[in-house]
Amino acid sequence: MQNRYGKLASWVYHLDKPIGHSFGDLEYYRQRLSGCDGAVLEPAVGNGRICVPLLEAGLAIEGFDTSQDMMEYCRQECLKRGLVAPLTCQTFDNFHYEHRFAAIILPAGSFQLITDTTSAITVLKRFHDHLLPGGRLIMDIDSIESVMEDSSLVRSWAVNEDELLTLSSQRAKIDHINQTILSHLRYEHWRDGALLCTELDLFHLRWWGVAELTLALREAGFVDVVVSGDYQHGRPPRQGDQIISFEATRADT
Ligand SMILES: C[S@@+](CC[C@H](N)C(=O)[O-])C[C@H]1O[C@@H](n2cnc3c(N)ncnc32)[C@H](O)[C@@H]1O
Repeated sequence: MQNRYGKLASWVYHLDKPIGHSFGDLEYYRQRLSGCDGAVLEPAVGNGRICVPLLEAGLAIEGFDTSQDMMEYCRQECLKRGLVAPLTCQTFDNFHYEHRFAAIILPAGSFQLITDTTSAITVLKRFHDHLLPGGRLIMDIDSIESVMEDSSLVRSWAVNEDELLTLSSQRAKIDHINQTILSHLRYEHWRDGALLCTELDLFHLRWWGVAELTLALREAGFVDVVVSGDYQHGRPPRQGDQIISFEATRADT
Protein backbone atom coordinates (compact mmCIF):
# COMPACT_ATOMS: atom_id res chain seq x y z
CA MET A 1 0.00 0.00 0.00
CA GLN A 2 3.05 2.32 0.18
CA ASN A 3 3.40 4.99 -2.55
CA ARG A 4 1.69 2.73 -5.04
CA TYR A 5 -0.10 5.23 -7.30
CA GLY A 6 -3.07 2.96 -7.99
CA LYS A 7 -5.94 3.51 -10.42
CA LEU A 8 -7.62 6.49 -8.72
CA ALA A 9 -4.34 8.09 -7.61
CA SER A 10 -3.03 7.90 -11.21
CA TRP A 11 -6.30 9.31 -12.60
CA VAL A 12 -6.11 12.25 -10.16
CA TYR A 13 -2.42 12.80 -10.95
CA HIS A 14 -3.15 12.92 -14.66
CA LEU A 15 -6.09 15.34 -14.22
CA ASP A 16 -4.15 17.57 -11.83
CA LYS A 17 -0.73 17.39 -13.51
CA PRO A 18 -1.29 16.62 -17.18
CA ILE A 19 1.41 16.45 -19.85
CA GLY A 20 3.48 19.63 -19.81
CA HIS A 21 2.11 20.88 -16.47
CA SER A 22 5.09 22.69 -14.97
CA PHE A 23 6.19 23.82 -11.54
CA GLY A 24 9.09 25.54 -13.31
CA ASP A 25 10.68 22.12 -13.57
CA LEU A 26 9.83 21.42 -17.23
CA GLU A 27 11.68 24.55 -18.40
CA TYR A 28 14.55 23.76 -16.00
CA TYR A 29 15.09 20.18 -17.15
CA ARG A 30 14.66 21.15 -20.81
CA GLN A 31 17.30 23.84 -20.40
CA ARG A 32 19.73 21.61 -18.42
CA LEU A 33 19.39 18.89 -21.09
CA SER A 34 19.73 21.15 -24.11
CA GLY A 35 22.60 19.88 -26.23
CA CYS A 36 22.49 16.45 -24.57
CA ASP A 37 22.75 14.04 -27.46
CA GLY A 38 22.80 10.72 -25.57
CA ALA A 39 20.05 8.64 -24.00
CA VAL A 40 18.27 10.10 -20.97
CA LEU A 41 16.57 8.04 -18.26
CA GLU A 42 13.65 9.22 -16.14
CA PRO A 43 13.11 6.82 -13.24
CA ALA A 44 9.56 7.13 -11.79
CA VAL A 45 8.43 8.52 -15.16
CA GLY A 46 4.77 8.49 -14.09
CA ASN A 47 2.17 9.77 -16.56
CA GLY A 48 4.81 11.40 -18.78
CA ARG A 49 4.19 14.96 -17.54
CA ILE A 50 7.89 15.77 -18.15
CA CYS A 51 8.96 12.89 -20.37
CA VAL A 52 6.49 13.59 -23.20
CA PRO A 53 7.49 17.27 -23.73
CA LEU A 54 11.16 16.21 -23.58
CA LEU A 55 10.51 13.58 -26.26
CA GLU A 56 8.80 16.30 -28.31
CA ALA A 57 11.90 18.45 -27.85
CA GLY A 58 13.91 15.67 -29.54
CA LEU A 59 15.54 14.06 -26.49
CA ALA A 60 16.02 10.28 -26.49
CA ILE A 61 14.26 9.72 -23.19
CA GLU A 62 13.16 6.45 -21.67
CA GLY A 63 11.56 5.67 -18.35
CA PHE A 64 10.51 3.16 -15.76
CA ASP A 65 7.94 3.15 -12.98
CA THR A 66 6.31 0.70 -10.60
CA SER A 67 2.78 1.87 -11.43
CA GLN A 68 1.28 0.39 -14.60
CA ASP A 69 -1.65 2.79 -14.16
CA MET A 70 0.66 5.82 -14.31
CA MET A 71 2.64 4.47 -17.26
CA GLU A 72 -0.54 3.68 -19.19
CA TYR A 73 -1.30 7.44 -19.29
CA CYS A 74 2.21 8.02 -20.61
CA ARG A 75 1.78 5.33 -23.30
CA GLN A 76 -1.57 6.79 -24.41
CA GLU A 77 -0.22 10.35 -24.56
CA CYS A 78 2.78 9.18 -26.62
CA LEU A 79 0.49 7.26 -28.97
CA LYS A 80 -1.67 10.37 -29.54
CA ARG A 81 1.45 12.28 -30.59
CA GLY A 82 3.07 9.53 -32.63
CA LEU A 83 5.96 9.30 -30.16
CA VAL A 84 7.71 6.19 -28.92
CA ALA A 85 8.83 6.10 -25.30
CA PRO A 86 10.61 2.97 -24.14
CA LEU A 87 8.81 2.33 -20.82
CA THR A 88 9.32 -0.57 -18.44
CA CYS A 89 7.92 -1.63 -15.11
CA GLN A 90 10.92 -1.54 -12.75
CA THR A 91 11.71 -0.21 -9.30
CA PHE A 92 14.36 2.14 -7.94
CA ASP A 93 15.87 -0.80 -6.04
CA ASN A 94 16.36 -3.22 -8.89
CA PHE A 95 16.19 -1.39 -12.23
CA HIS A 96 18.72 -2.46 -14.80
CA TYR A 97 19.69 -1.44 -18.35
CA GLU A 98 22.36 -2.96 -20.57
CA HIS A 99 23.24 0.50 -21.91
CA ARG A 100 24.41 3.61 -20.06
CA PHE A 101 22.85 7.08 -20.07
CA ALA A 102 24.13 10.60 -20.73
CA ALA A 103 21.73 11.87 -18.05
CA ILE A 104 19.32 10.61 -15.43
CA ILE A 105 16.58 12.97 -14.26
CA LEU A 106 14.24 12.83 -11.26
CA PRO A 107 11.82 15.74 -11.10
CA ALA A 108 8.90 16.15 -8.67
CA GLY A 109 10.80 15.00 -5.59
CA SER A 110 10.46 11.34 -6.63
CA PHE A 111 13.75 10.49 -4.88
CA GLN A 112 12.00 11.25 -1.57
CA LEU A 113 9.71 8.25 -2.14
CA ILE A 114 12.68 6.09 -1.07
CA THR A 115 12.31 6.30 2.67
CA ASP A 116 15.06 3.96 3.86
CA THR A 117 18.41 5.80 4.00
CA THR A 118 20.60 2.80 3.16
CA SER A 119 18.37 1.94 0.18
CA ALA A 120 18.47 5.56 -1.00
CA ILE A 121 22.27 5.57 -1.04
CA THR A 122 22.31 2.22 -2.87
CA VAL A 123 19.90 3.73 -5.45
CA LEU A 124 22.24 6.73 -5.91
CA LYS A 125 25.06 4.23 -6.61
CA ARG A 126 22.83 2.43 -9.11
CA PHE A 127 22.13 5.78 -10.84
CA HIS A 128 25.88 6.44 -10.89
CA ASP A 129 26.64 3.02 -12.40
CA HIS A 130 24.03 3.57 -15.13
CA LEU A 131 25.64 6.83 -16.31
CA LEU A 132 28.28 7.19 -18.98
CA PRO A 133 31.54 8.80 -17.83
CA GLY A 134 30.78 12.52 -17.62
CA GLY A 135 27.04 11.75 -17.44
CA ARG A 136 24.84 13.80 -15.10
CA LEU A 137 22.24 13.03 -12.47
CA ILE A 138 19.77 15.93 -12.21
CA MET A 139 17.10 15.76 -9.54
CA ASP A 140 15.08 17.86 -7.19
CA ILE A 141 13.62 17.56 -3.73
CA ASP A 142 11.13 19.62 -1.76
CA SER A 143 12.74 21.86 0.85
CA ILE A 144 12.25 20.70 4.45
CA GLU A 145 10.05 23.79 4.89
CA SER A 146 7.68 22.58 2.12
CA VAL A 147 7.66 19.00 3.41
CA MET A 148 6.68 20.21 6.88
CA GLU A 149 3.81 22.42 5.66
CA ASP A 150 0.42 21.25 6.92
CA SER A 151 -0.64 18.71 4.32
CA SER A 152 -4.23 18.14 5.50
CA LEU A 153 -6.47 18.99 2.57
CA VAL A 154 -9.54 18.03 0.61
CA ARG A 155 -9.54 18.57 -3.15
CA SER A 156 -11.89 17.58 -5.95
CA TRP A 157 -11.86 17.26 -9.73
CA ALA A 158 -14.97 17.16 -11.91
CA VAL A 159 -14.72 14.29 -14.41
CA ASN A 160 -17.98 15.41 -16.10
CA GLU A 161 -21.33 16.88 -14.98
CA ASP A 162 -22.20 13.83 -12.87
CA GLU A 163 -18.84 12.47 -11.77
CA LEU A 164 -16.34 13.73 -9.23
CA LEU A 165 -12.98 12.55 -7.92
CA THR A 166 -11.97 13.63 -4.42
CA LEU A 167 -8.73 13.42 -2.46
CA SER A 168 -8.57 13.80 1.31
CA SER A 169 -5.08 13.93 2.73
CA GLN A 170 -4.18 13.66 6.39
CA ARG A 171 -0.80 13.55 8.07
CA ALA A 172 -0.58 10.35 10.09
CA LYS A 173 2.98 10.25 11.44
CA ILE A 174 6.26 12.15 11.50
CA ASP A 175 9.43 10.20 12.32
CA HIS A 176 12.15 12.72 13.19
CA ILE A 177 14.85 10.06 13.54
CA ASN A 178 14.38 8.47 10.12
CA GLN A 179 13.23 11.79 8.61
CA THR A 180 10.01 10.43 7.17
CA ILE A 181 6.45 11.65 6.94
CA LEU A 182 3.44 9.39 6.46
CA SER A 183 0.22 10.82 5.00
CA HIS A 184 -3.02 8.94 4.44
CA LEU A 185 -4.29 9.77 0.95
CA ARG A 186 -7.89 8.72 0.46
CA TYR A 187 -9.15 8.85 -3.13
CA GLU A 188 -12.86 8.58 -3.96
CA HIS A 189 -14.82 8.35 -7.21
CA TRP A 190 -18.42 9.61 -7.03
CA ARG A 191 -21.31 9.51 -9.51
CA ASP A 192 -24.61 11.29 -8.82
CA GLY A 193 -23.66 11.49 -5.15
CA ALA A 194 -23.00 7.75 -4.84
CA LEU A 195 -19.55 6.40 -4.01
CA LEU A 196 -18.33 4.10 -6.80
CA CYS A 197 -14.83 3.35 -5.65
CA THR A 198 -12.29 4.33 -3.00
CA GLU A 199 -8.55 3.80 -2.54
CA LEU A 200 -6.23 4.47 0.39
CA ASP A 201 -2.56 5.16 -0.27
CA LEU A 202 -0.09 5.21 2.58
CA PHE A 203 2.15 7.95 1.27
CA HIS A 204 5.66 7.97 2.74
CA LEU A 205 8.26 10.64 2.04
CA ARG A 206 11.77 11.14 3.37
CA TRP A 207 13.16 14.65 3.81
CA TRP A 208 16.81 15.45 3.15
CA GLY A 209 19.08 18.23 4.34
CA VAL A 210 20.99 20.04 1.59
CA ALA A 211 24.44 19.11 2.97
CA GLU A 212 23.23 15.58 3.76
CA LEU A 213 22.19 14.84 0.17
CA THR A 214 25.37 16.48 -1.17
CA LEU A 215 27.42 14.11 1.01
CA ALA A 216 25.29 11.12 -0.06
CA LEU A 217 25.92 11.96 -3.73
CA ARG A 218 29.67 12.13 -3.10
CA GLU A 219 29.50 8.86 -1.17
CA ALA A 220 27.84 7.30 -4.24
CA GLY A 221 30.82 8.40 -6.38
CA PHE A 222 29.51 11.64 -7.89
CA VAL A 223 31.68 14.74 -8.34
CA ASP A 224 30.98 18.42 -9.11
CA VAL A 225 27.73 18.58 -7.15
CA VAL A 226 25.87 21.83 -7.94
CA VAL A 227 22.97 22.69 -5.64
CA SER A 228 20.41 25.31 -6.72
CA GLY A 229 17.29 26.93 -5.30
CA ASP A 230 13.90 27.23 -7.01
CA TYR A 231 15.17 26.14 -10.44
CA GLN A 232 17.77 28.92 -10.79
CA HIS A 233 20.78 26.86 -11.77
CA GLY A 234 23.90 27.80 -9.79
CA ARG A 235 22.04 30.04 -7.34
CA PRO A 236 22.62 28.42 -3.92
CA PRO A 237 19.47 27.54 -1.99
CA ARG A 238 18.22 30.11 0.51
CA GLN A 239 15.55 30.40 3.17
CA GLY A 240 12.08 30.31 1.62
CA ASP A 241 13.02 28.23 -1.45
CA GLN A 242 10.45 25.53 -2.14
CA ILE A 243 12.56 23.33 -4.38
CA ILE A 244 16.22 22.32 -4.14
CA SER A 245 17.87 20.91 -7.27
CA PHE A 246 21.01 18.81 -7.40
CA GLU A 247 23.16 18.22 -10.46
CA ALA A 248 26.03 15.76 -10.02
CA THR A 249 28.46 14.24 -12.50
CA ARG A 250 29.91 10.78 -12.93
CA ALA A 251 33.66 11.21 -12.98
CA ASP A 252 35.25 10.87 -16.40
CA THR A 253 36.90 7.50 -15.75
C1 LIG B 1 5.41 12.28 -8.10
S1 LIG B 1 5.20 11.04 -9.36
C2 LIG B 1 6.34 11.69 -10.55
C3 LIG B 1 5.96 11.41 -11.96
C4 LIG B 1 6.78 12.17 -12.99
N1 LIG B 1 8.20 11.89 -12.86
C5 LIG B 1 6.56 13.67 -12.90
O1 LIG B 1 7.55 14.41 -12.72
O2 LIG B 1 5.42 14.12 -13.01
C6 LIG B 1 6.12 9.71 -8.62
C7 LIG B 1 6.17 8.42 -9.43
O3 LIG B 1 7.04 7.51 -8.72
C8 LIG B 1 6.59 6.20 -8.95
N2 LIG B 1 7.18 5.31 -7.92
C9 LIG B 1 6.85 5.18 -6.62
N3 LIG B 1 7.66 4.30 -6.01
C10 LIG B 1 8.53 3.86 -6.96
C11 LIG B 1 9.61 2.93 -6.95
N4 LIG B 1 9.97 2.28 -5.82
N5 LIG B 1 10.30 2.71 -8.10
C12 LIG B 1 9.95 3.37 -9.24
N6 LIG B 1 8.92 4.27 -9.32
C13 LIG B 1 8.23 4.51 -8.19
C14 LIG B 1 5.09 6.33 -8.84
O4 LIG B 1 4.41 5.24 -9.40
C15 LIG B 1 4.85 7.66 -9.56
O5 LIG B 1 4.55 7.47 -10.91
